[in-house]
Amino acid sequence: MQVAVKRDKPEQVAADVLAVFLRQEKSLTPKSVVAQLDARLDGRIRDYLDSGDFSGALNSTALVRTGGAIQAPRLLLVGLGKPEAFTIDALRQASATAATAVRRLGVSSVALVPPAGDVEPAEVGQALTEGALLGLYTLKKYKTTSENGDKDNLRELSILASGSTMQRALESGVQRGQILAEAVNMARDLSNSPGNEVNPSYLAKQAQEIAAKTTLHCHVLDVDGIREHQMGCLLGVAQGSEQPPAFIILEHAPKGSQEKPIVLIGKGITFDSGGISIKPAANMEDMKMDMSGGAAVLGTMQALAQLGYPRRVVGLVPSSENLPNGNAVKPGDILRAMSGKTVEVINTDAEGRLILADALAYAVQELKPACMIDLATLTGAVVVALGSQATGMMGTDKAMMDRLRAAGDYSAERVWELPLFEEYSKQIKSDFADIKNVSSGREAGSIIGGAFLKEFVGDTPWVHLDIAGTAWTRDNKPYIPKGATGVGIRLLVKALEDIVEDTPQSAAEKEKPKAAARPKAKATARAS
Ligand code: BES
Ligand code: ZN
Ligand code: ZN
Repeated sequence: MQVAVKRDKPEQVAADVLAVFLRQEKSLTPKSVVAQLDARLDGRIRDYLDSGDFSGALNSTALVRTGGAIQAPRLLLVGLGKPEAFTIDALRQASATAATAVRRLGVSSVALVPPAGDVEPAEVGQALTEGALLGLYTLKKYKTTSENGDKDNLRELSILASGSTMQRALESGVQRGQILAEAVNMARDLSNSPGNEVNPSYLAKQAQEIAAKTTLHCHVLDVDGIREHQMGCLLGVAQGSEQPPAFIILEHAPKGSQEKPIVLIGKGITFDSGGISIKPAANMEDMKMDMSGGAAVLGTMQALAQLGYPRRVVGLVPSSENLPNGNAVKPGDILRAMSGKTVEVINTDAEGRLILADALAYAVQELKPACMIDLATLTGAVVVALGSQATGMMGTDKAMMDRLRAAGDYSAERVWELPLFEEYSKQIKSDFADIKNVSSGREAGSIIGGAFLKEFVGDTPWVHLDIAGTAWTRDNKPYIPKGATGVGIRLLVKALEDIVEDTPQSAAEKEKPKAAARPKAKATARAS
């Protein structure tokens, strides 16, 4: 859906629903848009507040029939929560709440009135757009009948601007929000779609299609190319499946950018059965999402290209199935990674780190990166440690981790650091090879995964994001319907934009208007 910014007055806009956002306060701000609407409606909004029928609590709603007092036949009140607790994420959530409530009504158009406050209009436009488009996400492709009558008629979503300066700022935010939400929803489609459709070749084709519609360059190593590069760990994981592996390279090289690239790496296991160390049957179907890191890298690359990001970035997605056929890698087998290191496979279910080892080695040897960030649904242990509220973060570069933490707070895709003390690395020494892919016990499972990856990064500044707990949700959240979350894209784009803002390399980068187009991490942007 396209989001439009309109200059119509709230009381005059021709939409099925006019949505207004209210903070959880006793009284209406005098002269505010809502107060003016309340006057036209003979105090009906006030009645809702006074009676307690509508409190303004975050994501609460009330629908008011307007009876001709304004052009729109319905007014939707949407709660923003307590003013002191306001963050930009409250706006994303409330926008999603508004959009999904309007969809449930079965009507076709809604106009949103941006809340008054001291948040930049561009940020407001972005948050409203992200919230609505992410909240409205569904995957209907595999359903032949619609449940509970298909009431999804929503086709028009507009945001109202009160002047031309505000309109321009809102529009720039809307455009960014649209690019980001489309990238996230594409990643969600990939992770939610079944493994019999989304296999390594499908991911490769998807990457090529992204390149065809943007300025990105795509190159895919097929199994021969993977062999030529001596990626023995990726080949080892792939050998138990009929589906050939793929190694996807997607490059963003803006004109004049000659510097070392930032490299993003995403785990692309399109189905993880565990292999010979097979997983229990319960919930194994969810393992179609084990390519969520790869999907996040594809989405991030698409968004960076569409946003005109000024630096060189290369996205890598090693992709394979993890299945146990007669040729599958077995516990005790020893594989040789592209870096030359030998790896004893103790548990074939710790396959993510194997394919990432080759991708990290490829990055270090072939791309000489300025820094690298990998995203992977790597360990069940990170779900135990952090649940679905934060992505596990480990790495060798404190400055990068600080950036990611700030970007995580801003995007509400929070990250939490786990230590990578040297001692952990001792636990993956192997009796027969250089290293083994798991330690002997179950302690510190996520950190052991990180310690394994660290063996392949050399001196390159590197951060590992374990998204096993954040890539998938079992319950609906305002702008994250259950299933794949598409986590990582809004986080990475924000972190990468902050790098440019903090360390401009060219006159053009220095000239960029900071405030509107590239908001700094502001975890608690307050409304007045
Ligand atoms: N893909 C899984 C991790 C995972 C678990 C992702 C839950 C999403 C939700 C990964 O490949 C895996 O199986 N890891 C093992 C590692 C163990 C054998 C050391 C795990 O976490 O059990
Ligand atoms: Zn596994
Ligand atoms: Zn896995």
